[in-house]
Amino acid sequence: MSQIELLKFITCGSVDDGKSTLIGHMLYDAKLIFADQEQALLLDSKVGSNQGKLDYSLLLDGLMAEREQGITIDVAYRYFSTERRSFIVADTPGHEEYTRNMAVGASFAQLAVILVDASKGVLTQTRRHVRICSLMGITDFVFAINKMDLAGYEKQTYEDICDDINELLAGFYTSGAQMIPVSATEGDNVTFHSEKMDWYKGPTLLAYLEQVQIKEHTGRHFYMPVQRVCRPDYSFRGFQGQVASGTVRVGDTLTVLPSGETAGVKRLFSLDKEVSCLAEGMASTVVLDREVDVSRGCILADGEFFCRSNLFAAQLLWMDDEPLGIGQEYDLQLTTENAIAVVDEISYKVDIHTGAHEKAQGLRKNEIAGCLIHLQTTMILDSFERYPRMGRFVLIDRVTNQTAACGVITHPMHRSENVVWQELEITREIRAKALGQQPKTLWFTGLSGSGKSVVANIVEKKLAAAGRHTMLLDGDNIRIGLNQDLGFSERDRTENIRRIAEVAKLLNDAGLIVLVSFISPYHSDRVRAKQIIGDAFSEIYVSTPLKECERRDVKGLYKKAREGRITDFTGIGSPYEVPKHPDITIDTTNADPEVLADQIIEKIFMQSDR
Ligand code: ADX
Repeated sequence: MSQIELLKFITCGSVDDGKSTLIGHMLYDAKLIFADQEQALLLDSKVGSNQGKLDYSLLLDGLMAEREQGITIDVAYRYFSTERRSFIVADTPGHEEYTRNMAVGASFAQLAVILVDASKGVLTQTRRHVRICSLMGITDFVFAINKMDLAGYEKQTYEDICDDINELLAGFYTSGAQMIPVSATEGDNVTFHSEKMDWYKGPTLLAYLEQVQIKEHTGRHFYMPVQRVCRPDYSFRGFQGQVASGTVRVGDTLTVLPSGETAGVKRLFSLDKEVSCLAEGMASTVVLDREVDVSRGCILADGEFFCRSNLFAAQLLWMDDEPLGIGQEYDLQLTTENAIAVVDEISYKVDIHTGAHEKAQGLRKNEIAGCLIHLQTTMILDSFERYPRMGRFVLIDRVTNQTAACGVITHPMHRSENVVWQELEITREIRAKALGQQPKTLWFTGLSGSGKSVVANIVEKKLAAAGRHTMLLDGDNIRIGLNQDLGFSERDRTENIRRIAEVAKLLNDAGLIVLVSFISPYHSDRVRAKQIIGDAFSEIYVSTPLKECERRDVKGLYKKAREGRITDFTGIGSPYEVPKHPDITIDTTNADPEVLADQIIEKIFMQSDR
C-alpha cells in the first residue's frame, strides 16, 4: 500500500443515474471549481431546462453534442484538487455502445465510482460497468447509491442494495469496495454528512476519495521496462523508466531481458536526485556497473521470472468497427515492444451483462472474448494478474493504424509447432457414464500443515466406500515423481500447479473424481487451474491460520524456515494469497476432520445431485 497524492478515477453510470450531477456537486460544494466555470454554470442554468436551479452536470459535460442530446458521449477528463489530494476524473458514457470509451477511461484509472440508482437497485448495466473496469485492471470500487432522497432515505433500501452489490462482487477480484448512500441533487453524503441519513456512519464520497489507499499491484519482484537510454557524455550511461513493481537497491544484481545478461546496480537516481533505493511507481534512472547491451524496450529485472512465449490466452475487448479477423495479422504492442500477432481462435465470448461464457463465431465492436493469440516472434510477457504491465496489450490494425482492441493476458502458454489436437471417439461423457458418476476436481488449497491432505484423504475414503471412482494428487507425492524437476520459486510453483491442473483434467476425462491437495499459494495459478479444469472444478480453502500450522509443524519445516534453513517457505519467506471466493472454506483448528469431510461431500455431491 502506498499513500498517493494523485487519485485517478472513473465514474460509471447511465444517463439517468445522475453521474455528472454527483461529480458536479462534489466540485461545487468543495469550492473546487474556477470562478469563470461557475459563472458559465449559472448562465447555463438560466437558459437551461432545470427551472433556474443549478444544473451541476453541465460542469462536466465537456462536449457540445452532449449538451444537445443531454447525454455524455465521450470520455471527459477533469482535474481538481482539495487540500488533501489531487484528482483526475474520467467521466464516460454508460451505454453499451460506448463500452469502448469506458474501457479507455478505466484503463487510466485506479478506482471506479459506480452509480447505482437507489430506486432501481443493481441492474445488468451495473454488472457491465464492473466487468469492464475489472477487465481493465481496476480492483478498487466505490458504489454511490444515488437518489436516496427518492427512496425516502431508507436504511433498508441501502442495505438491500449493498447485499446485491456484494453478491455481484463475488464474481470479481476486488481489493476494496465502499458503498455510500448519497443524493447527488440534494448533496447528501457527497461532501457533507447527511442529517437525513444519520444511520450511515461511513465517510462521505469526497472524504473517501481523499483518504482511500490504493493497493498497488506490488509484485514480488523488481522490474522496470526501459523507456530511454540516457547518455549525456561518454562517462555516464543510465537507463530510464518507471519502476513497474518491487524495489531495487544499489549493489543488487539485475538481469537484462531479453538477453539474460546480468550486471550490478552502481547508482540510482529519481528525478535527478541520487538515491540508494527505488520503489514501484518512481521515475527512475539506473546505472549499471558494467557494459551490457540495453536499449529501449529491454526490461531490467531482479531475475528471469517472466515468461518468454509466442502463444497466450487473452481476453480481448474489441474496439474497431471492423470485426476481428481470425488468422489476420495485427500489430501487438506490449510495454514498449511490438510483434506481429494472429488470433488463432475465439475460445468463448463473454456475456457482458452476466459474465457467462458463450460459444462465438466472431467478435464485433464492444464485445469481449477469450482468445488464443499467436505471435510471430517470442516476447517477454506474463499474465495480467501477476504482472499487470507485462500482461496488458493493444492490437493495432496494420492497414488503418487504428487501435482495434485492448486485451489482457490470462495465461501465457508454450506450444511446439506441428502439434494438432486429435478428436477422440471415446469421450469424457462416455467414460464417465461407464463409471456411473460425474467427474469433478476438488481443489484443496491452504498452508503447509493446514490439514489439506488429512481432510482430502477422508473425503476420498468416504467416496470410495460409496462406490465412487477417485484419485488423489498430493503435493509432496507428486513432487517426488512427476514434478521432481521443480522447486519452490514463484515460477516453479506456477508450473507445478499448471501440470497438476492438466493432470486433474486428464483424470476427469477418464471419468474420475479427483482430489488435489497442493498449497497452490498464488491466486492467478488457481484461476488458471480453474480455467484448465472447467466446470468440474471446486475450490476448497483450508483456512487454518499460520499460527496453528506452525504450532503443529508436523514435518518440522516451519522450524527450519524460522531458522533460515528454508528461505522461501510459504507463510514465512513466501506469500500465500487467500482465495477470494472459494466454494467451501474449512478451518481444521478445532474441528473434527470427519465432520469437515462430510460437509464437503454434502456441499459438492449431494447438492449438485439433487
Ligand atoms: S506449491 O506451493 O507448489 O503448491 P506443494 O503443495 O506442491 O507446494 O508442496 C508443498 C509441500 O512441499 C509442503 O507441504 C512441504 O512439505 C514441502 N516444502 C518444501 N519446501 C517448501 C517451501 N519452501 N514452501 C512450501 N512447502 C515446501
